[in-house]
Amino acid sequence: SLGSRTVTERTLVLVKPDGVARGLVGEVISRLEAKGLRLVAAELRTLPREVAEQHYGEHRDKPFFPSLVEFITGGPLVALVVEGPRAIEAFRALAGATDPVKAGPGTIRGDLALEVQRNIVHGSDSPESAAREIGLFFPALT
Ligand code: PPS
Repeated sequence: SLGSRTVTERTLVLVKPDGVARGLVGEVISRLEAKGLRLVAAELRTLPREVAEQHYGEHRDKPFFPSLVEFITGGPLVALVVEGPRAIEAFRALAGATDPVKAGPGTIRGDLALEVQRNIVHGSDSPESAAREIGLFFPALT
């Protein structure tokens, strides 16, 4: 349903190590707050390999998996839990397409990134992924 009856959701957002290294944490948080999404949790941390492999478990058999795990564990990231009406879809719209060259202008990736791996942010892609990922990063919230 739409309007005031729209269900509130939570999603896991990561400002990936490239975004942290480039000083884009504030930019990402500003954009999602300006949209009307609300922070529920936020933490700077460097992921252990095991957590990274769990987080990206569905991509275990993809050719880019070893590189992706290396990248995501290669420096501190900022993990966020973000809440709002249709938060999962809302944040993915803010982020833009996975390939930043295809992401539209006005999106985080479209405005700020060029490479599919170093694409600044991650956002959960479904309610099931959001529940799993929030449980992995912030078990106290579930
Ligand atoms: S897929 O294959 O369609 O399921 O992949 P996708 O959902 O688009 O992307 C999943 C995450 O993997 C990263 N990715 C890559 N990293 C390195 N090299 C290549 N070629 C590549 N393709 C995809 C991509 O950044 C996605 O990260 P998240 O954190 O989920 O956005």
